[in-house]
Amino acid sequence: MKIDIESLSKSDFKPKYKSEESLGFGKIFTDRMFVIKYEKGAWQEPATIKKFSPVILDPSAICLHYGQTIFEGMKAYRTEDSHINLFRPEKNAARFNSSARRMMMVEFPPDAFIDGIKELLVLEKDWAPKSPGTSLYIRPTMIGTEPGLGVRPSTDYIFYIILSPSGPYFPEGFQCVKIFVSEFYIRAAPGGTGSAKTGGNYAASLLVGKEAEEHGCSQVLWLDAISKKYVEEVGASNIFFVYEDDIYTAPLTLGTILPGVTRESTIQLAKDMGFTVKEEALSIETVIEGIHSGKIAEVFMSGTAASIAPVGSLYYQNKEHIINNFEIGDISSKLYRTLSDIQYGRVDDHYGWIVPVC
Ligand code: COI
Repeated sequence: MKIDIESLSKSDFKPKYKSEESLGFGKIFTDRMFVIKYEKGAWQEPATIKKFSPVILDPSAICLHYGQTIFEGMKAYRTEDSHINLFRPEKNAARFNSSARRMMMVEFPPDAFIDGIKELLVLEKDWAPKSPGTSLYIRPTMIGTEPGLGVRPSTDYIFYIILSPSGPYFPEGFQCVKIFVSEFYIRAAPGGTGSAKTGGNYAASLLVGKEAEEHGCSQVLWLDAISKKYVEEVGASNIFFVYEDDIYTAPLTLGTILPGVTRESTIQLAKDMGFTVKEEALSIETVIEGIHSGKIAEVFMSGTAASIAPVGSLYYQNKEHIINNFEIGDISSKLYRTLSDIQYGRVDDHYGWIVPVC
């Protein structure tokens, strides 16, 4: 793929953030973005790396009315010697295209996906923060831009990549979070769009998110849509339960769960630490009983933005159920440390997961 790099004038450069402690998540963006359009049945080369600027859309654009939008969440990790690492980017490129197929959008070539990210990172690397737990969050996005109100797949698309220097996703950092179990609303049904990374899945979660907040919870735990009995996933991540020494996470088979890159990596790391990992659905009743009997010793989330994040309690049926005295468990800590050590280049990556960029 050919990429034109537009030069920026002095006034195009934004002032850098003042402190890494107050970055938050996804609040500020770097100076440049990567953009390429799909028109007349083909990706229109050259792609451009240009000043970070608004995307101009026809008010009738299909993405705005019928939700043809997909995205990925990735991170660039700054190593101690100031190099930049990507983590399994080929997995994100593949998942992006799987989301595209489900949403009847065009696919983007995986090599170009990774090259676009790398080229942009080379130019923007000074924006990558250094403090522990921070990263340069990467958001590849594609939207259907064809104007018109007929319900149909768009003929035209924009694919773009933006970068956001970010702190930990949860403001509390690596600390236990409270989770609200949604008993009425559902996230995804078999045959729906649950396994695609598309905006509508997140929009549908906002109403319960508000209810969760009212109970002091920062995330929602979704149950399966049919029986409302089995635990599936959390709004911004997958979820794991340590139950009688084995580790459980919901299976991907019904297509209702986002196939997380961190989920897959966590399963691998846990197996290599000697744990048995079962991709089996646990019922919410088993989980609540397990929390009270002590059979569930730990619960943790996994996601790109969230990394490994321990869960301190579940709010279910008007009651807070406290896990492990609201303390971070050893397995969550070990997985968090091992995963971050690989991502930040502090240990040898014998999995071949790291792609060094610059
Ligand atoms: C990620 O983990 O990168 C995600 O995309 C979740 C998000 C919606 C914050």
